[in-house]
Amino acid sequence: MCGIVGYCGPGPASEVLLEGLKRLEYRGYDSAGICVDVDDELKVIKKKGKIKDLKEIVPEDLDGHSGIGHTRWATHGEVNDRNAHPHMDDSGKVVLVHNGIIENYEGIKRRLKKEGHTFLSDTDSEVIAHLIASLYQGNLEAAVRKSAFLLKGTYGIAVMHRDEPGTIVGIRNGSPLVLGIGDGEMFLASDVTAILAHTKQVVYLEDKEIVTITADTYRTSDYYEQEIEKKIESIGWELEQIEKDGYEYFMEKEIWEQPESILRAVQGRIDREGATGHLGGLNMTPRQLLNIKRIYIVAAGTSFYAGMVGAFLLESIARIPASTELASEVRYKNPVVEPDALYFVVSQSGETADTLYAMRELQRKGATVLGICNVVGSTIARESDGGVYIHSGPEIAVASTKAFTSQISVFYLLTLLLARMRHLSFEDGLEIVDAIEKVPDQIKKILEKTDTIRSLAKKYARYTNFLFLGRGLNYSVALEGALKLKEISYIHAEGYSSAEIKHGPIALINETTPSLFLVPDDKLRDKVINNIKEVKARSGKVIAVAVEGDNEVAGIVDDVIWIPKTNPVVYPYLMVIPLQLFAYYCALELHRDVDQPRNLAKSVTVE
Ligand code: G6P
Repeated sequence: MCGIVGYCGPGPASEVLLEGLKRLEYRGYDSAGICVDVDDELKVIKKKGKIKDLKEIVPEDLDGHSGIGHTRWATHGEVNDRNAHPHMDDSGKVVLVHNGIIENYEGIKRRLKKEGHTFLSDTDSEVIAHLIASLYQGNLEAAVRKSAFLLKGTYGIAVMHRDEPGTIVGIRNGSPLVLGIGDGEMFLASDVTAILAHTKQVVYLEDKEIVTITADTYRTSDYYEQEIEKKIESIGWELEQIEKDGYEYFMEKEIWEQPESILRAVQGRIDREGATGHLGGLNMTPRQLLNIKRIYIVAAGTSFYAGMVGAFLLESIARIPASTELASEVRYKNPVVEPDALYFVVSQSGETADTLYAMRELQRKGATVLGICNVVGSTIARESDGGVYIHSGPEIAVASTKAFTSQISVFYLLTLLLARMRHLSFEDGLEIVDAIEKVPDQIKKILEKTDTIRSLAKKYARYTNFLFLGRGLNYSVALEGALKLKEISYIHAEGYSSAEIKHGPIALINETTPSLFLVPDDKLRDKVINNIKEVKARSGKVIAVAVEGDNEVAGIVDDVIWIPKTNPVVYPYLMVIPLQLFAYYCALELHRDVDQPRNLAKSVTVE
């Protein structure tokens, strides 16, 4: 979704901004622009399309040392040059970039129009530039502060004024903004990846905070002019982690990283001696953990499917009733918060608006909400009542892969912890521990032999509809597989419980709608085989992801992808890898933009 970068320093601002925007490309966007302060003029250059299109129209000799840049993911107004950011008021003095949505922009726009303002775009964001200009009395920070009392909605804003060269004011309410402190230079960004190449020292702004930067100073304050002392934190990521490192796509790199990223998620958190998990960040005493009567998991997208795996594990192994709910639905259903229930929000980015708002609503109602996040210092990570980092390292591709396997890793550990406190014996716990510890090597084996999956992608990529079918623990994996395929290849795919097809989806089955069945050798295997036969009886093509040596399955399906045999409890790990690869290779086959699929954003910071 939209990205912001700002720079004040001795360097060439346009270069720093363009490079920062390039790093933000992964968030998903449709247009981009920069504004550079050149000889006390604010020069705005913006364009629909990619950063490379913008680069082409930025003059090489654009000589300025402070500026702001933006990648836009359209919400108000179509995708065109006019609606791209930065936006300027009609006096040409105020220029800004904005992430978020201003809900009352129409009222403000009407009033400002009456006062003589002329608007050039259809965006809510342009209104803020005009508003700040109308409130300006010689001090940009003061004008921004006044505007904050008039704006309703969410925003992360970086703004410049022609009369205050070399100064940028940033303000945050609901959309992330981080200050980067360099050596004689300062940065603003919506996401640390934009500035990681320059500095690792950052200050995360909270909602309703303002920061004013120049090349060598910064000042943080609240809406009431109170100065705030902020902690300087260090980014734990390395620059190489946000680079492709020889891979063609970030998604490819991230799929291949999973043996290591899973290790990072479980490292130091498995207690073999006790056959249990150890999760310090939960901030809960054993007594509190024992008193949990119910678990709710709230998330969106891939994180939601990881949460479904988690709920299944917690209920079936730890014997705690557990369910997963879509964050976007929780917020508006006036949720009942149960005193003995524990709530988890799961979010790779830690910034997804639906999840964040659901969390805040639950907290307002007295819930204890723990976060399972990847991005350290993200809003959900900071505002939750405790939680666990998955330590995947930066995930750049829009389609989430390594975050999924790391999120489920945390749920395996949590299940072990809670189950061992209840009914799970040491021996049974140890079997699960053993199985988890084998997973990284088993994934490596799958990744060593991707030829079958690649050739299946060739064979099937031109079908336009797919069903993904699984049961039990692997039902959620089927949903995740279908999501991956539609996200990056744009092939229509639906995930179902394979038992459920006879209640509707079987009507779709004919020779043009293939089904991909997940067939682990668990207690539901025979039932899944019956479902496969039902599909075959109706001329449906079937691909199975099955356990090595399962000749019966091989005998009845059209194509098989083999995975190593393991403890049925951990099959979701091994089942999901071929599905990620299948989606990836289908997308390549169809020449899709794998890392930045159309219309999608990595971190969806609007509702
Ligand atoms: C977007 C992304 C998905 C992601 C979902 C939830 O839709 O495109 O890949 O799964 O948001 O994101 P989160 O950061 O909360 O896990």
